[in-house]
Amino acid sequence: MHLSLIVAVDENGGIGINGDQPAFISEDLRRFKKLTTGNTIVMGRKTFEALPKGALPNRRNIVITRQKDFSPPGCEVIHSGEELYEVCRPEEKVFVIGGGEVYKLFFSDATRIYLTLIHYKFPSIDTWFPPIKEDETSMAKIVTKEHECNQSCEFHSTNDLSKLYTNEWVVERSEGPYNDEKSGFSYSYINYVRR
Ligand SMILES: NC(=O)c1ccc[n+]([C@@H]2O[C@H](COP(=O)([O-])OP(=O)(O)OC[C@H]3O[C@@H](n4cnc5c(N)ncnc54)[C@H](OP(=O)(O)O)[C@@H]3O)[C@@H](O)[C@H]2O)c1
Repeated sequence: MHLSLIVAVDENGGIGINGDQPAFISEDLRRFKKLTTGNTIVMGRKTFEALPKGALPNRRNIVITRQKDFSPPGCEVIHSGEELYEVCRPEEKVFVIGGGEVYKLFFSDATRIYLTLIHYKFPSIDTWFPPIKEDETSMAKIVTKEHECNQSCEFHSTNDLSKLYTNEWVVERSEGPYNDEKSGFSYSYINYVRR
């Protein structure tokens, strides 16, 4: 099983507010669909219940819950992290799509992170992605720049990121920043692979 985490975080690692995501970026949703379609997605029961139309089409949907009688249509249900390894084939591409508890559960097993960094610090965040620890000797330079969205915020410059080694994670690829006209947010994509 090839296990990846896919997530959109703000600059503090925030991923959720009141059971919802802090922001939706159309281009990021298209990227999510492209990466996950034809593969397997794993999500916590709370993230599943926040999906507006239930199971996502053209993907194997797996929901993790401790409830023995939870069986939503179009989904397989597992009751522990270990069970994921029993139900997935060795060659299967599996994406953990959230939320906070489930990212934490699978963080140490994942070999890739597809991260969308939204260049903003949302107030009232109540759910976070686990910290991606950075090596003190070769940390990315965090630079502050005035963005098109007129928000002054910190971001990893693309050039620095291409050289970044974390103590656990290597940046394989980074793109951006881009600007989402609809929401006004600036965002970047950062793909990490486990060292
Ligand atoms: N920004 C992003 O990319 C992103 C992506 C996804 C979600 N989110 C956000 O994240 C938030 C939801 O995250 P969350 O941490 O509250 O909930 P969650 O991780 O989606 O789901 C938690 C639930 O998963 C089940 N679970 C967790 N660990 C388990 C284990 N070891 N064994 C069996 N079942 C287990 C439990 O379900 P039961 O209670 O049924 O037992 C638990 O209540 C929302 O705000 C959502 O919008 C953000």
